[in-house]
Amino acid sequence: MDVDLIQSLVIEEAEYFLCGSPPFLESIRAGLKDAGVPESQVFFELFTKASKTASDRPDAEVNGDNVKVAEIVFAQSNQTITWQADTESLLEFAEANGLNPPYSCRQGICGTCECKLLEGEVEYQTTPTATVEDGSVLICISKPKTAKVVLDL
Ligand code: FES
Repeated sequence: MDVDLIQSLVIEEAEYFLCGSPPFLESIRAGLKDAGVPESQVFFELFTKASKTASDRPDAEVNGDNVKVAEIVFAQSNQTITWQADTESLLEFAEANGLNPPYSCRQGICGTCECKLLEGEVEYQTTPTATVEDGSVLICISKPKTAKVVLDL
């Protein structure tokens, strides 16, 4: 199965349910988009390896260029919480602190976790493939880059 086969079978009113590896899904999603299928009609499930825990990684990778401690403000819920570098992503940090942001892929592909960034900067841990509006970020693959980050959550 490849993009050409999918495009030959595309019915624009249909909904598409895909599952597979991230590279496979990215290829098929791009093909459907090129064929005029709106992203809202494409659903998918990723087959990936379990993510590493922070203790599985060398410190240099965990810390990267990100700050080690940051003040994260969840503006809608009026919470300010200290973020530590051992947290996987801002999505996981939000969840660990009682918030329930929307998500799907947790890989930067679907765009479901897109959130307005009201202040500060984040750094992506992997390159997002979803389209992201200016002033918004994908919290599933980002960590704080500045000492203060304000999210519209
Ligand atoms: S949950 Fe899919 S891009 Fe973040």
